[in-house]
Amino acid sequence: MKNNLFVIFGATGNLTYKKLLPALYRLMDQNLISSATKIICIGRKNFTTKSYIEDALTQVKEEINWSVFKKSLFYYQMDIESMPDYIALKTFIENNCQMYTDNSIFYLATAPGLFPIIARGISEGNLVSKEDLKGRVVFEKPFGEDLDSAKKYNQMVRDYFDENQIYRIDHYLGKEMIQNILVVRFSNKIFEDIWNNKGIKSVTILAKETGGVMNRGGYYDGSGALKDMVQNHLMQMLSLIAMEPPEDFDTDDIRQRKVQVIQKLKANFNAENLLVGQYKGYKKEKGVDPDSKTETFVFLKAEIDTERWKGVPFYILTGKQLDEKKSEIIIEFLENSHSHKKWPKDSIQSNRLIIRVDPEDGITFQINTKIPGLSSDVKPVVLDYCHGCQAIGNLPEAYEKLLLDIVLGDTTLFPRWDEIEHSWQFIDQVKAYLGDTTPIEYTNFEELRKKVIK
Ligand SMILES: NC(=O)c1ccc[n+]([C@@H]2O[C@H](COP(=O)([O-])OP(=O)(O)OC[C@H]3O[C@@H](n4cnc5c(N)ncnc54)[C@H](OP(=O)(O)O)[C@@H]3O)[C@@H](O)[C@H]2O)c1
Repeated sequence: MKNNLFVIFGATGNLTYKKLLPALYRLMDQNLISSATKIICIGRKNFTTKSYIEDALTQVKEEINWSVFKKSLFYYQMDIESMPDYIALKTFIENNCQMYTDNSIFYLATAPGLFPIIARGISEGNLVSKEDLKGRVVFEKPFGEDLDSAKKYNQMVRDYFDENQIYRIDHYLGKEMIQNILVVRFSNKIFEDIWNNKGIKSVTILAKETGGVMNRGGYYDGSGALKDMVQNHLMQMLSLIAMEPPEDFDTDDIRQRKVQVIQKLKANFNAENLLVGQYKGYKKEKGVDPDSKTETFVFLKAEIDTERWKGVPFYILTGKQLDEKKSEIIIEFLENSHSHKKWPKDSIQSNRLIIRVDPEDGITFQINTKIPGLSSDVKPVVLDYCHGCQAIGNLPEAYEKLLLDIVLGDTTLFPRWDEIEHSWQFIDQVKAYLGDTTPIEYTNFEELRKKVIK
């Protein structure tokens, strides 16, 4: 098993405590990565390794055997913006971790504005060089703040590293049911011939949250639902649902098919097809501009301009402070055009395939069936598959899967640069249309539902 070194920039941040440390611990605990793995946690705060671990103990909610895990951890205090600090970091790594034996993984868990400077530091500090395939650099989402900044970051990052050393994370792609989309679509013959505009009436991709911005107001206010959710998570779901069948299912083939979908995404912007909202009380959240026009809700109707999808609406809906926490994809199939000759039209409903991503993992398939008894009346019923219930032990967290793939050098579940580029292009068009629009204020989802569901 390989000896891995993880270096986390932004290790005193929310993401590291909530996701990265628990995921790394579980991978080590299950022997999926070596127990000799070393993790250097970098922050600005004045911690020693001992006091960092004490702080992590209070911040990390997951169960961790700290007496074991702490042997892998180091805290290293540095200013990410200071180039000499990277030279000193290299010396620290050489003295403490015997680096360069196996994989060295540099994880940028910071705001995207710091990506270029950290990338430069890693390169100029000789921590990773272009030819070194054991050196990998991981960028958290969002990659950029708009198309221009994303292009600029990418150009800088590509000056320092090869594309196959770069891992741009979108943790939705590590979720079990997102990985399951390809299996459902391409391993079930029943869907093959109807996965197009002759079989499908509409596709809805939604990610609803009940909470507000909590302590992330400062970050969120500069982003909003379009950039925080649609540009990455929802676009990735859409591209997996709508991509053409890959020929050989290798990494490049799959990424190529995905990018072709995003390139063809079109929307006829008008008040019917695009709605942005802001929850009441948002402007009073900590870190939020009191005059903010940032959207906390988006509904968008788009189309994919290909033979397969011509005429099929793709509805995208996401927001905060809504009625439920739910992320799912609803495929609604066309009705059987003859069924009403035998059964009342309103008793027959369209078949629906629902891929449930979060918080439950599963699949629901709705079909019409006869009501039991002597009458021949019809009603819709659901066939329900609970994915989590079938798992032996807990389902792996998205970050566990993605961190393991980075160690293994598998880039399939990491968006390629052109996927990110085209998704920013689309979001920039939406933003340009919206201009200075004031989002409508909402207090609950019902008020929005009436406006978006006709
Ligand atoms: N939080 C989540 O659930 C989540 C989920 C998905 C993606 N993300 C993405 O992950 C990234 C990090 O998010 P986060 O919520 O963890 O952010 P955060 O809580 O604000 O943490 C930011 C981290 O960056 C460090 N930092 C900032 N400037 C620095 C400097 N000049 N030198 C050294 N360290 C510096 C901070 O160190 P100090 O605290 O020591 O100053 C802190 O460790 C963002 O890109 C975010 O979009 C977060």
